[in-house]
Amino acid sequence: MVARQYRVKPPIDPNKDLVTLGPGSAEQDGLWLGALAEETKGRPPQVWLTTSKEQVVAVVGKRGSGKSFTLGVIAEGLGGGSNTNISRQDKPRAVLLLDPLDVYWTTRHPVTSVDNPDDNLEIQRHYKLARNSGLATLCLDVQAWVPGDRNRRPTDPEWFQTLRLPVPSLGLEEWELLLDVNVLTQPMGQALVDSIVLVKETGYSSGGERIHPSQGFGLPELANAVQSDDLDGVYHKESLRALRQRLLSLHATGLFSNDGTPLSDLLVPGRVSVILLERLPDSYRTAVVSVLTRRAFVARGETAFAEKRLALDPDLNSDTRKTLEDAVALGVPKTVIVLDEAQSFLAPGPSSPAREVFVRLVKEGRNIGLSATLATQQPSALDRRILSQVETFIAHQLVTESDIKAVRDNLKSGLPESINFGRLDLDLAGTLRHLDPGVCFVSSADMNTMPRRAVIVAIRPRATVHGGIEL
Ligand SMILES: Nc1ncnc2c1ncn2[C@@H]1O[C@H](COP(=O)(O)OP(=O)(O)OP(=O)(O)O)[C@@H](O)[C@H]1O
Ligand SMILES: [Mg+2]
Repeated sequence: MVARQYRVKPPIDPNKDLVTLGPGSAEQDGLWLGALAEETKGRPPQVWLTTSKEQVVAVVGKRGSGKSFTLGVIAEGLGGGSNTNISRQDKPRAVLLLDPLDVYWTTRHPVTSVDNPDDNLEIQRHYKLARNSGLATLCLDVQAWVPGDRNRRPTDPEWFQTLRLPVPSLGLEEWELLLDVNVLTQPMGQALVDSIVLVKETGYSSGGERIHPSQGFGLPELANAVQSDDLDGVYHKESLRALRQRLLSLHATGLFSNDGTPLSDLLVPGRVSVILLERLPDSYRTAVVSVLTRRAFVARGETAFAEKRLALDPDLNSDTRKTLEDAVALGVPKTVIVLDEAQSFLAPGPSSPAREVFVRLVKEGRNIGLSATLATQQPSALDRRILSQVETFIAHQLVTESDIKAVRDNLKSGLPESINFGRLDLDLAGTLRHLDPGVCFVSSADMNTMPRRAVIVAIRPRATVHGGIEL
């Protein structure tokens, strides 16, 4: 893509004609993000995002500025193989792409597959861009997951799979969201907490028969515990009946089961697993995002511990070594958790389980091999604890002062001394307001250039179909 060029001072002196952003070296592991959109002596250098180390990346910009397109570029790069023209992933990570608008399933298809003269002009434009950049043949390992049987549509492609969440992994805040109850103040909520204890820990009596506790319970078992002799007379019959009804309706969505979808099906190195959230009401979306992210966090923590013992513990005998190797082989690989429309999940304010698990992810993920990539049209609406952990900002056009300030306050690199575009002399706010779709202002804590300062980048064309096109 030929982007209009900015005159930026001081000029960038890239190492080996390549600008790399992010921790570590892109020569080990990285992905092609785009080209420098600044005046340079020769050809504008390519810009790569490193992926050898864990990091937190935020893609920000107003509606239609190119965020989802860029997130697709990053997903392609993470899943693009060990040596393609868009990526070097010697040790590929798994990618869990939480997709609130159902726009990323299309990354399964190379952009060539929609080359049809009758197609929409925008699709044809993307195809031409890809072909001109030699990007038209990439195939990714992409799976898409519909949350719950009831949300499957007759129009879905056959390859879509069904996602289920394990009932025992739901926390109290998620129960509150899913059942619309308060566990502290409402009898129905208190009956729920008691029923969970009965089904999971103590067992209960039903019609005189003793039912043993089970860690692997589902919603029907929980609904039975609500009807137990133990709760009879403790709560009003109406509260218990209403709770049972809500549990059974939740069961009918097909989104929950005793064991849930195994993480080993979702998190596979080099695979992009897209979770189609658009079909769910907001409260369910939040519950899916928090349960999946927390499960990945906990399971990856266990695997990372086993990996560390193998690497760092000098006292391993061969039996222990074998046990640890098995745990690693069956465990969760290093993973990048990608969240689009992040403002819907990570806003400050009333307690939100999704936000709390993301705060942990961005603060502690590095230690256990988890990275996060967030996209939002409203960076000012993200919890500060999350915004402050972002190391690489990819900022598309922003117009409101509060969003510009949120980015400015959290940048981890220096700024250019001056930015000119034609006859315009732009400060940071002016530059952000002025960016064309697909052009962005990128600031990273680490980069390979002299001087180290934020750069203006034209995002590369997509190799797979961008699902955010308006038809
Ligand atoms: N790098 C690019 N190259 C070519 N076209 C692009 C690029 N980035 C964005 N576009 C075009 O701009 C349109 C909007 O981009 P995108 O869908 O990424 O917006 P967005 O920022 O995610 O918006 P929203 O907030 O509405 O989700 C796309 O349909 C695409 O056609
Ligand atoms: Mg978008």
